[in-house]
Amino acid sequence: MSRHIGHNPIIALAAGVILLATACGGGNSVAPTRDPALPPHIADVANGERLFKNESCSACHAIDDRRVTGPGLAGIGAVAATRDPALNADEYLERAIRNPGEYIVDGFSNVMPNTYGRLPQDDVDDLIAYLKTLE
Ligand code: HEC
Repeated sequence: MSRHIGHNPIIALAAGVILLATACGGGNSVAPTRDPALPPHIADVANGERLFKNESCSACHAIDDRRVTGPGLAGIGAVAATRDPALNADEYLERAIRNPGEYIVDGFSNVMPNTYGRLPQDDVDDLIAYLKTLE
């Protein structure tokens, strides 16, 4: 296989550029949009549910409409689409997880940790997929 690539300098160069882009893509802890160099990710709702517990989201958020420290997240998929006219539901939810201080829900304070920006993109995608199942 590498023998064939070796015979074609253009393909070898392109493969090298793609590898380099992939290697350099992971350094930033806040990645507001999916890095196009990453392979496509099929969201895993079960992993999102696991993260919701393991990352302590559930300490502050009920999955029905009860208020705990944070708002209850029932129906958050539909709510998320209405929060900021510039953002669709997925974009709002990603921002709410990575940079919670950027939008403070009425009646709540800015106490959600701003440390979730460290989560890998796949985990954020899985959390979003899980949140959108809550009714
Ligand atoms: C220490 C408590 C706390 C923890 C832990 C926490 N949150 Fe929050 N969260 C809040 C509070 C308070 C708000 C409302 C204030 C704001 O908008 O930042 C909020 C807001 C949100 C919103 C926006 C809700 C809306 O109605 O627009 C989402 C979505 C959310 N949190 C998801 C998460 C997820 C997912 C996790 C875990 C990765 C998490 N939260 C962890 C307290 C917390």
